[in-house]
Amino acid sequence: MSESPKDMVVVKGLCKSFNGVNVLRDLDATIKQGEIVSIVGPSGTGKSTFLRCLNLLETPDSGDIFIDGVNTQEIDVRMLRRKMGMVFQQFNLFPHLSTLENIMLAPTTLLKEPKQEAEEHAYDLLEKVGLSGKAWAFPWELSGGQQQRVAIARALAMRPEIMLFDEPTSALDPTMVNEVLGVIRSLADESGMTMAIVTHEMRFAREISDRIFYMDQGVVYEEGTAEQIFTRPKRDRTRAFIRRVDTVRYDLDKDFDYYGFDAKIDDFAMKHLIEQDRRELLVELIEELFDNFFFLKVEELTFTLGITEKKEVELRFAYGGPELNPLVADDAASLFARNVILTNCIEEEFNIIDGKNVLEFVLPAKKKGN
Ligand SMILES: Nc1ncnc2c1ncn2[C@@H]1O[C@H](COP(=O)(O)OP(=O)(O)OP(=O)(O)O)[C@@H](O)[C@H]1O
Ligand SMILES: [Mg+2]
Repeated sequence: MSESPKDMVVVKGLCKSFNGVNVLRDLDATIKQGEIVSIVGPSGTGKSTFLRCLNLLETPDSGDIFIDGVNTQEIDVRMLRRKMGMVFQQFNLFPHLSTLENIMLAPTTLLKEPKQEAEEHAYDLLEKVGLSGKAWAFPWELSGGQQQRVAIARALAMRPEIMLFDEPTSALDPTMVNEVLGVIRSLADESGMTMAIVTHEMRFAREISDRIFYMDQGVVYEEGTAEQIFTRPKRDRTRAFIRRVDTVRYDLDKDFDYYGFDAKIDDFAMKHLIEQDRRELLVELIEELFDNFFFLKVEELTFTLGITEKKEVELRFAYGGPELNPLVADDAASLFARNVILTNCIEEEFNIIDGKNVLEFVLPAKKKGN
């Protein structure tokens, strides 16, 4: 009989707040050596903050984190980062360095690895991520998917025992998502490495994970095997989240590409076979809100589009600033939007959640036979 693996990550009572807003609220979690854990949950529930606390990119307000038995308050940050590689949504490669140089930089400077050894290792890693031919390419010569695979190789170059991934595919064009997930999957299969992956790719999470953490409002609200969480969730909020079979998220800022955004919404609607009339309604509602409201009054916005098993379409707009609900104004645009909502039986809800404006809509599913 094999011994049960040791605890690699133990988190006790972790709290972290930003500007008085409690983001992590007494979070407990344990990840065993060699375990693959996916962390899923709604936007803004502290998933990134949790990962960032693990490798001390954020300093916890209170609570304890033990990595391989050592309290992070007593560990040298450089030691900790060596043990733990992290891959972010944005690849952050050094633009002036080739692929090979990007991968070799940390081992040669931080670990003082001899150049030749680092180079051999870098070539091995490039092969592993399927980029053998790209050693001398610069980041700008690579696609997003390729850049992200380089970023993974770069993290692996430090020979970490733990890998943290924070939405490694959400900045990618949909056509490139699979190549990156494939690399992570093969790492999970072969390496025996401990991995924590924040992802919105539910099917992927389900296939690859030993365990799922469902995070909600700053805690691990429910955890279990993929089977338990995805088919038999015990708690209400987990169930509501899982019911959404797919979501996409867009972060909009000043120079966002409106036509690209429109096309993505259309892609999502097509993929889920949303009927023509509901698709038009969806686009109309979104355009109305953007043209008359968000573009004029909001600087940054996170938009999530989801679909449930029953084919209800859910829209969620979250934005900062003072309390601002576009549906209560007295102007023509607001009236028009209210009318669209009313005549199409769209459910609508506005709340302030953790200091952010959150406007949500649900487009009902089409009744059969209509
Ligand atoms: N450095 C920071 N300064 C101020 N507020 C922050 C900071 N980092 C995170 N927050 C806030 O903490 C909350 C949780 O953020 P976090 O990024 O951890 O959520 P998340 O679960 O990763 O969400 P998403 O799925 O959108 O990535 C958000 O309200 C966010 O605005
Ligand atoms: Mg995040």
